[in-house]
Amino acid sequence: MTVRASLQSLHAYVPGEQPSGDRVLKLNTNENAYPPSPKVFEALGAITADTLRKYPDPIGRELCGAIAELHGVQPDQVLITNGSDEGLALCTRAFCEHGGRVGYLTPSYSLYPVLSAIAEMERVEYALSADFRWAMPEEVDVDLFFLTQPNAPTSLAMSREEIEQLLQRCPGILLVDEAYVDFADENMLSVLKDSDRVLISRSFSKSYSLAGIRMGYVLGPRPLIEALYKIKDSYNTDVLAQWIALAALRDQATMLSNVTAIRGARTRVTRELTKRGFEVLPSQTNFVFAKVPGGRDAETLFKMLRDRQVYIRYFPGKLTGEYLRITIGTDEQMDQFFAELDDLF
Ligand SMILES: Cc1ncc(COP(=O)(O)O)c(C=O)c1O
Repeated sequence: MTVRASLQSLHAYVPGEQPSGDRVLKLNTNENAYPPSPKVFEALGAITADTLRKYPDPIGRELCGAIAELHGVQPDQVLITNGSDEGLALCTRAFCEHGGRVGYLTPSYSLYPVLSAIAEMERVEYALSADFRWAMPEEVDVDLFFLTQPNAPTSLAMSREEIEQLLQRCPGILLVDEAYVDFADENMLSVLKDSDRVLISRSFSKSYSLAGIRMGYVLGPRPLIEALYKIKDSYNTDVLAQWIALAALRDQATMLSNVTAIRGARTRVTRELTKRGFEVLPSQTNFVFAKVPGGRDAETLFKMLRDRQVYIRYFPGKLTGEYLRITIGTDEQMDQFFAELDDLF
């Protein structure tokens, strides 16, 4: 038995910690602090033995239809996936020849290099500047570009003009990863509608409070979505996830009210951190990325908080090493966070 050569040196993706316990304050993986729609629990209550006995609809027709209606596209422009991560992986398999070039920003979602390595693609990294903006080169010569919009871990969004510019400079397919977009001021759906090379990926994990079920989707032009359908697993999403996601999607009011609460808390957290000397980037997501005050060491602060069961995220490295990423929780959770932080300062 041998392990494929490219896997022997592969550094696998490392998900954020999932600590358990009553005392844990978990602000490290950008989950939603609020519960999902109550309709989700009604849908679960309607599950019968027959639902579980049979295979799910392989393409989740009902959910695709509801997603298409929500975004004003046709159902055959939608592919539902086992978390949005699956959609990203499918793209590396569908849109690059062997040895093709996959581009992405650094820092951005750290799964992209892993997926590209698994698919044995050449990784082309475009470094952000010290203020986390991108001085885009004249030519972005890749087959597939993953753009996290708004970005993680920086929390910053690019403008529509910048994204249109990227499309002009990059001959390949542009996947706009909108995992956090419901917390932002604008989305890129109109860019999708104007181009035959743009895909948008969305997640139920953040704004819909459903990270536990694994459901996401890709929107795009028919020929590209058709290609993804050809290579997906026959039953890539299960019946429970389809039902739950459908119930949550139909209850836009709950999702939007949770988003409003988080955006409100985000403003307050930004203000409170700034008061304490942190430099907080203007967040368009459900987390903030904040530079610790001068004279403080971000990693030490991260570890001291963890010792107190307060979990946030630290990304070592030249550009990110002075920053901490903090998921926005409920008002009570953020009060608790500041109480612990102030105790250390
Ligand atoms: C930028 C980005 N894209 C995608 C994902 C994955 O989302 P999902 O839970 O839908 O797989 C994450 C998760 O944190 C993310 O940060």
